[in-house]
Amino acid sequence: MTRVSIFGLGYVGSVSAACLADSGHEVIGVDVSEAKVEAIAAGRSPIVEEGLDDLMASGVSAGRIRTTTDVGEAVAHSDVSLICVGTPSNANGSLDLSAVERVAESIGHALGEKATDHVVVVRSTMLPGSTEDRVIPALEGRAGRPVGDGYSVCYNPEFLREGSSIRDFYHPPFTVIGSDHSAAAAAVAELYRATDAPVAVVAIREAEMLKYVSNAFHALKIAFANEIGLLCKADGIDSHEVMDLFCRDEKLNISRAYLRPGYAFGGSCLPKDLRALVHHSRTRDLASPLLQSIIPSNDAHIAAAYDLIRATGAKRVGMLGLSFKAGTDDLRESPLVTLVERLIGKGYDVRVLDPSVSFASIHGANRAYIEHEVPHIMSLMVTDLDELLDHAEVIVVGNGSPEFEAVAQRRRGDQQIIDLVRLPAEQVSHLRDGYEGIAW
Ligand SMILES: NC(=O)c1ccc[n+]([C@@H]2O[C@H](COP(=O)([O-])OP(=O)(O)OC[C@H]3O[C@@H](n4cnc5c(N)ncnc54)[C@H](O)[C@@H]3O)[C@@H](O)[C@H]2O)c1
Repeated sequence: MTRVSIFGLGYVGSVSAACLADSGHEVIGVDVSEAKVEAIAAGRSPIVEEGLDDLMASGVSAGRIRTTTDVGEAVAHSDVSLICVGTPSNANGSLDLSAVERVAESIGHALGEKATDHVVVVRSTMLPGSTEDRVIPALEGRAGRPVGDGYSVCYNPEFLREGSSIRDFYHPPFTVIGSDHSAAAAAVAELYRATDAPVAVVAIREAEMLKYVSNAFHALKIAFANEIGLLCKADGIDSHEVMDLFCRDEKLNISRAYLRPGYAFGGSCLPKDLRALVHHSRTRDLASPLLQSIIPSNDAHIAAAYDLIRATGAKRVGMLGLSFKAGTDDLRESPLVTLVERLIGKGYDVRVLDPSVSFASIHGANRAYIEHEVPHIMSLMVTDLDELLDHAEVIVVGNGSPEFEAVAQRRRGDQQIIDLVRLPAEQVSHLRDGYEGIAW
């Protein structure tokens, strides 16, 4: 059993209060709203949420939930404090952390008076860096002692959905605890002993970011399905039939596929088919802003790779890979071809190694394409890694061919590596300077 104080008794705070009490913990709820504090004290839920009235009533009558507006009392009589206050948008879209900071200051003040260990857990949704840059200074400023001296801080994002929040509390996808303190992380994990989810302890900023990534992806999925719905409707197609079928593909569609940050997409299908779909939507007088934004987003990623190379100041570039992915000689719409062309256009001295393409240029079915479409690049091809390493000041790992993995061991100390594919960690962990990933 843990003694928990919960600051902010809105959706997250009151569901947490009722479910944690139901899990056997002792809960003290704190809110600046007298109405919420009184509602819970009377055994009623302050919000409309299925099942919450009953759960709250039984927690209060069992003596496992009580409320107060006195922060000092709440901190003194608990071992863990959860911060669940609102983090609304400011008028310009930025995040308003004033309620979190006020609560952190008042908890900090109370910690200044407390002799036993305490864990402060932020559950409010906050951008990466907020715990370290805003919450910890607010706590330390009032506690009069630094984090680590009798108290620690964790970030524990909440994944519940209004309307099914009690079920979500007990069956979350996972429990994520951002912490660099193992005893504190264990204390937070103990709160969720009644849930059936795996626990992941990660860095605080990763936990903060994860919440935004999740919500952004959920929003993206809804917007995508809705745009597809409008397109289907315009063509007299049942969008639910299409999307039901779409979701049955758990290999490529509903899966981990395509969700690793890396380089731009390309090849003979994705760009062509997206362009056709966007054009088709225009002929149906549909805006499809999400679908329309995908190619520009991809172009911006190619520009990001170019900017990384430019930032090295090097002029002699060795490109490992030319086709859009390993093991193919298909150069159609390869974003690496675009990158090489941009480099050549800006006066860089480029060499390219791609065994699949070299083979195809002599023997393959793509020979005609190569001769007609990219002769300017074929003259830059080299046939082995040594030749490329002799030439390059900066080496760009452009696709995941296994033979390119040796580059991290073979490069000279003065050569920089730009990694577009995420070489295996064990190969690059020894490279401190002179290694840059495109999106990590
Ligand atoms: N609502 C959701 O489904 C959900 C899900 C996951 C995460 N979140 C995040 O959790 C946080 C809380 O969301 P919510 O929907 O529960 O907000 P809410 O507005 O329903 O509740 C916030 C509560 O905090 C109280 N509060 C404000 N200042 C306080 C202070 N100084 N001391 C004590 N209490 C104070 C308010 O009176 C209010 O009752 C937000 O950051 C939100 O983004 C919400």
